[in-house]
Amino acid sequence: MKNGLQNPRAGYEAPAGVTHGKDAEQAEIYTLLSGIEQRYGYDFTHYSPASLKRRLERALAQTGLTRFTDLLARLLRDEACFDAFLETMSVTVTEMFRDPAFYRAVREHVVPVLRTYPFVKIWHAGCATGEEVYSMALLLHEEAFLDRVRIYATDFNKHSLDTAAEGVYSARQMAAYEANYREAGGKGDFSEYYSPGYGRAKIKDFLKERTTFSYHNLVTDGVFGEMNLICCRNVLIYFDKTLQDSVLYKFSESLRHGGFLCLGNKESLNFTAVKPLFAAVDKKERIYRKCGAPYAV
Ligand SMILES: C[S@@+](CC[C@H](N)C(=O)[O-])C[C@H]1O[C@@H](n2cnc3c(N)ncnc32)[C@H](O)[C@@H]1O
Repeated sequence: MKNGLQNPRAGYEAPAGVTHGKDAEQAEIYTLLSGIEQRYGYDFTHYSPASLKRRLERALAQTGLTRFTDLLARLLRDEACFDAFLETMSVTVTEMFRDPAFYRAVREHVVPVLRTYPFVKIWHAGCATGEEVYSMALLLHEEAFLDRVRIYATDFNKHSLDTAAEGVYSARQMAAYEANYREAGGKGDFSEYYSPGYGRAKIKDFLKERTTFSYHNLVTDGVFGEMNLICCRNVLIYFDKTLQDSVLYKFSESLRHGGFLCLGNKESLNFTAVKPLFAAVDKKERIYRKCGAPYAV
């Protein structure tokens, strides 16, 4: 429930009337999450409990406080502190051509379909600092139809989005990404795609022109329509089953019939409510295609 302290769903539930030991800590975490949702609108109650707790403990340690209730009191009053808290809550690890075999599979199974369309819409949900998005733009450039593509790249971490839009990475990182690019079936000279200088590498403008980076919270915000491809890789892994189902349902609504959905290699549609709506295109690389009729949950 958005406006009440009771949360009717599974996930981080308030323990019933228990006030000591582990349950007291769970009650404090629940109070913390409820307070954050009420004050800032961010709902973490359906993040996967184990990693959520690790993140919360790290956030607590960073403030020098020892109790979650004290952390809540500070967060409620101090927006800058909440900003830092959000940074800790979002895991933004990413790289260019992460899991090279996935990009080879995209070239093999997805590109031949998408290139037949007059216009292609792609959504990268949870794009972090943008490396994944530029990898896709670069691949589509090499496949010679980037000029017919519009990419929407979203995340709820505003600092990451700023980095993504800037498209400036360290030269050392780019050297490592070049190996991924080759393994991913790169067809050109990787160094042609960025301008080096002062230990930095700036992604060239022609790879940015088709992309819009914007804020979007997968838990609370609506969806973009008529997508041909959605990449949401290494994000669902941080959500519990209820939230995974809800986000996957949003994706199923957002995709056109025949649209592709790509997940991370530790994520899958198995045991999810949307499974009947999709056919596996490449099981190993977690590439699916929407085939079923729309349905209501
Ligand atoms: C590990 S990164 C994955 C980046 C990229 N997709 C990849 O696979 O390399 C996870 C991203 O999901 C974002 N994220 C987590 N919860 C989110 C939410 N509720 N809405 C939007 N983005 C979210 C985080 O901010 C982070 O940037």
